[in-house]
Parts: sequence; structure tokens; C-alpha cells
Amino acid sequence: MIRSHIVGSGSALPERCVSNAELAEKVDTSDDWIVERTGIRQRYIAGDHETTGSLATEAARKALADAGVEADEIGLIVLATATPDNTFPATATTVQNALGCNGGIAFDVQAVCSGFLYALATADSMLRTGMAQKALVIGAETFSRILDWEDRTTCVLFGDGAGAVVLEAREIADGFGGILSTKLHADGAHKELLYVDGGPSTTGEVGKLRMKGREVFRHAVVNLADVLTEVLANAGVAASEIDWVVPHQANSRILDATARKLGLDPARIVVTVGEHANTSAASVPLAFDVARKDGRIKEGDLVMFEAMGGGFTWGAALARL
Ligand code: UT7
Repeated sequence: MIRSHIVGSGSALPERCVSNAELAEKVDTSDDWIVERTGIRQRYIAGDHETTGSLATEAARKALADAGVEADEIGLIVLATATPDNTFPATATTVQNALGCNGGIAFDVQAVCSGFLYALATADSMLRTGMAQKALVIGAETFSRILDWEDRTTCVLFGDGAGAVVLEAREIADGFGGILSTKLHADGAHKELLYVDGGPSTTGEVGKLRMKGREVFRHAVVNLADVLTEVLANAGVAASEIDWVVPHQANSRILDATARKLGLDPARIVVTVGEHANTSAASVPLAFDVARKDGRIKEGDLVMFEAMGGGFTWGAALARL
């Protein structure tokens, strides 16, 4: 049996860190409100010289070095983003060229905050069917470029960054390691709760993010609890067996509510929303890389990834490292 194994990770953040206090000088908000309602204390904002592609390339380089894999071994790059460098070509091809591994497969996946889960599940399927041997799965965003900086209900919530993992197809005999189960969902009925009010085929402009946060929150807790339950059942694993949950980092209250609903130990949830804010498709691989590098997540651990975002889209994946 072939399974995809996560063999390395890397991440990248813009140079500039913006605190809640600095934001409160520009919009009618406060550090207290942001921390109490979201857990966010700061976010990183890309400068003119930083793009989704440059952050993705840096994260990918670090993931390759961490895995001990050369760029020319990579036959597949799946990059999740809702903020590509250009409408086309895919930012994945920009990363491919920067890494110098031209010739393999490279494309973007657009599932907003669930993008990394969609990218991971897609790359996993492609590796298991033999389309490539080694893959880079990247989540990278510059959401600061699509925020309405006069809308306090959204601009305080998001940040920029990138995270990447290297996947390797390995033949296994005992059914032990690798990505054990993935589940993805979408429900297009809720588009107006979280969307960008522009695009190439409508306004011809990039547009700005619009969100009805309270409603999104309610859907997130229900959908995430459901998909986590589904993945656990599919893998035949109990919630108590999970070593680490690496969730999408939108709001610490969503993480708490989901953990309570499933009876997960809050100490086993990786929380980086305080440092990074919501980096959309980048948030899961960024949090994963932080927890691997600080020694929390170790080889052999059972790790659950989950995310929910615009579309709505949501998904989860369970992996034995
Ligand atoms: O990543 C994709 C998925 N996205 C999410 O999962 C986001 C989900 N939603 C959330 O995280 C939360 O709903 C928010 C953080 C967006 C908002 O928290 P909330 O507790 O749902 O607040 P609310 O929208 O109900 O607003 C409460 C009050 C309102 O004032 P009134 O109407 O009660 O007078 C808002 O106008 O807070 C006000 N408010 C603010 N006050 C200070 C909204 N934004 C701010 C702000 N600073 N930045």
C-alpha cells in the first residue's frame, strides 16, 4: 500500500509585525476587544517587496531543507491561496521556477481558509496513484491586500504568511504511517457570509473581503465538529488517541468551542492565532511548522488538521508522522 508521508515543513512570515495597539491608531478598535473576542495579539503584514509567491518560495525552501530533499526531486507542487500573485499563471508555477524544479506538475487550489486541507488531500491522492513521488504542499496568502482597512469588523482579523510541507509517497506494509484519512466538503449556499466583492469576470477589480463574522462562527463550530468526527470514524481512531490538533487559526473561541464539542484536550491543540492572526490557507501549515520546530509535534505522533472557510469549504485530515 502507498501512503503519503509528511517528511518536512517550513514557514515564512513578512518582516513587518503589526500589533493590535498599532491598528487601534488607525481604526476604531482596541487591543482589549481584539484579544477578548479572537485571541489575536499581532499579525504580520507584507511589504511591497513581499508577495504570496515570495513567501511561498521561502516556506518551500525551508521545508525542503528540513526534509533533506532537493528541489529537483519534487514532481508536484500544489499551492493553496486566495491571494495569488497574478490572476494567472498559478503562483505554484512561480514557486516552481524560483526553486528550479521546472517540468513537473504545479497548480493552485482555491478553497480560501480550507485551501491547505484541499491541497493536502489533492496531493495525497495524486501521490497514492503514482502521479509523482515527492510533492510540496503550500498554503500562502497576502490577505492584507484584499482587506478593507476601514472596516474594523474584518481588518483586525487577518495577516499574511506561508507554510509548506514536503510529502513523500512510501510503500508501507503495516498500514502504520502517513496520511490516514482526509475528508473535504463545500456548501455554496453561504457565499454571501464570506466573500470578496470583486474578481476578473465580475468587477474586473481584485475586490475586498466581506464577512458576517457571527454567522460564520456558528457554521464553523458545527461543520468542524462534524468533519472531525467523520475523519476519526473513517480512520477508526478515538479522539483521545490524537496527539495534536492543528486547526485553522481564525479565532481562539472557535478552537475552544470545537474542542469542547468533541471532548478534545485543549492542551493538545496548537494555537498560533495570537501571533499570526488568520492567515487563511497558510494558517494550518504555519501552525504545524511552529509546533514541529518547537518540539511539540514529534515523529510517530497522530496529528489532526482541520479548517473551515469561505465558500463555505471545510475539511480535515489525519496523519501519523
Ligand atoms: O477564516 C474563515 C473563517 N472565519 C471565521 O471563522 C471568523 C468567525 N467569526 C469570528 O471570529 C467572530 O464572529 C468575530 C471575531 C468576527 C466577531 O466576534 P463576535 O463576538 O461575533 O462579535 P460581533 O460581530 O457580534 O460584534 C460585537 C460588537 C459589535 O458592536 P454592537 O453591534 O454589539 O454594538 C461590533 O460592531 O463588536 C463590535 N466590533 C468591534 N469593536 C471593536 C466588531 N469589530 C470590532 C472591532 N473593535 N474590531
